[in-house]
Amino acid sequence: MHEIDQDLIMKGDMVIDEPDQAGPIVQTARVWAMPAADTFDCQPIGDMVRRYLRQSKVSIDPFARNKRWATYTNDLNPNTAAQYHMDAYDFLCLLRDSEVVADLIIFDPPYSLRQAKEVYEQFGEWKFDHTQNAIGWLKEKAVCYDLLAAGGHFLHFGWHTNGLGKKNGAVVVELLVVAHGRAHNDTLCLAERKMAHQTSMEFAKEASDETHNG
Ligand SMILES: C[S@@+](CC[C@H](N)C(=O)[O-])C[C@H]1O[C@@H](n2cnc3c(N)ncnc32)[C@H](O)[C@@H]1O
Repeated sequence: MHEIDQDLIMKGDMVIDEPDQAGPIVQTARVWAMPAADTFDCQPIGDMVRRYLRQSKVSIDPFARNKRWATYTNDLNPNTAAQYHMDAYDFLCLLRDSEVVADLIIFDPPYSLRQAKEVYEQFGEWKFDHTQNAIGWLKEKAVCYDLLAAGGHFLHFGWHTNGLGKKNGAVVVELLVVAHGRAHNDTLCLAERKMAHQTSMEFAKEASDETHNG
């Protein structure tokens, strides 16, 4: 069984031991909080991100909007405070080409195809020939995998909990469910740890399948 770093784990209202004996202990919590226009302005979500940032030396946020909390921040929208204004994939490739190695990646993309399209329509060149990729962000995750050091954390926010994934050597260490009330979707906040560096072939293949099926 993998060990988890207890310092990184938030005490929630519910703690579950992972029933799968081969897997790690996953700490889960469900809390209620008012929704916020910017994800990390929702207090328990912002607290979670800051908790991981405190342990981090080099962090990357490819969808940062106005949060300059990470070492490297980017947002396609040029009217935001991020350091770079590139498509997330191009930004991540730039960092990889520059041989940046991160111990934390914060991944908070648009949660739906509609949200993703709105941003592209305003600020990006049209990249929606492979529509599935806009939701899965697999190409972007594959580069994140390369950028993340073994032992590093990947934080994923959205309406699902598909981060880097077990078959890519990442194990879930924390799941925070933030409920916002009846009229809203919950925000699912996932923390994974990359256990070891392995070939990114699985991810690359998945991304390529998605592109071709899209
Ligand atoms: C959910 S918001 C991030 C909010 C941020 N984490 C916060 O708490 O303030 C997603 C951001 O991704 C940006 N975005 C959308 N598509 C993008 C793309 N292809 N590349 C880079 N940024 C993109 C949007 O402009 C938006 O600011």
